[in-house]
Amino acid sequence: MTTATPRTAPAVLPGPNDACWCGSGSKYKKCHRGTDTVEARKKGPDTARKGVRPGIVSPKRVVPITIGRPEYADSGRPSRSRNESDVKSPDVIARMRRACQAAAQVLVETAQHVRVGITTDELDAIAHEAYLKRGGYPSTLNYHRFPKSLCTSVNEVICHGIPDSRALEDGDIVNLDITIYLDGVHGDCSATYLVGNVEPQHQKLVQVAKECLDIGIAAVKPGRPISDIGRAVEAHAVKNGTSVVRAYCGHGIGETFHTALQVPHYYEPEADTIMQPGMIFTVEPMINQGHWDHRTWNDEWTVVTADGLRSAQFEHTLLVTDTGAEILTLP
Ligand code: MF3
Ligand code: CO
Ligand code: CO
Repeated sequence: MTTATPRTAPAVLPGPNDACWCGSGSKYKKCHRGTDTVEARKKGPDTARKGVRPGIVSPKRVVPITIGRPEYADSGRPSRSRNESDVKSPDVIARMRRACQAAAQVLVETAQHVRVGITTDELDAIAHEAYLKRGGYPSTLNYHRFPKSLCTSVNEVICHGIPDSRALEDGDIVNLDITIYLDGVHGDCSATYLVGNVEPQHQKLVQVAKECLDIGIAAVKPGRPISDIGRAVEAHAVKNGTSVVRAYCGHGIGETFHTALQVPHYYEPEADTIMQPGMIFTVEPMINQGHWDHRTWNDEWTVVTADGLRSAQFEHTLLVTDTGAEILTLP
């Protein structure tokens, strides 16, 4: 059901301003035209457009029925009725500690396999087994019908990249976003990894994104508004000549994957919820080399930068304490 049809160039090619045949949502001239024609191929790979393109998505992986599943595992629709508080009971906090530890372990285990030539679908298979081994369900699997067990976001992909047949290339950067459902709660974390020899400018972007997460975490203080986090993150991003994605935010998390609480990574004065001990939410800044604006592919998931420049992200799930933040997804 979730297997996409292989995308190859059709016999009759689209016009320059028509949608590309690959399903990227880009105009043909900005997408595959650079590699489809005999002339383009003669110019060699260096002149071909270097953007990430969709590959083949493998069939849905199976989760044994013995593993506890979230409410949307079969329907694809998370329940909206649940109005979970962002301040958690001691019982939920205890379960979140375990789920977040497991998520951190799955991330480390999967990341060990990042190398030139591995496909993101192979990483999905590795992550999938790592969740099951810990008795967890891959939270992304069938969440609003997302087809895979983690998100793999390469280069200009900001977030929600679907693992597929694309092999990682020398010089790529890839974010692995792992969420596990364990003991009735979700633990969420991600990190961006370098593949082979990455250009210094792209290494810098990844470094700045990591610093943005650390600076955002340092701004978590009980009694202060959520907007403190984005203010600190944005200042650091801008100082380094990068931008902060505005359309996607951190979020409250617990028995619900995404609660109504939003954590902007830019300064948003209306984010005036006061942080309180016992609150749990994620901080997960997406930092762009160029402009913050995004586009979404026709697959309705893959979020890419509008200008095609790269984006990097790191994520932790945090518990607000009496003095600051406890990082629940620290391995
Ligand atoms: N893990 C992502 C987050 O940080 C959410 C992925 S939802 C999916 O919030 F459906 F795209 F997988
Ligand atoms: Co995540
Ligand atoms: Co998240």
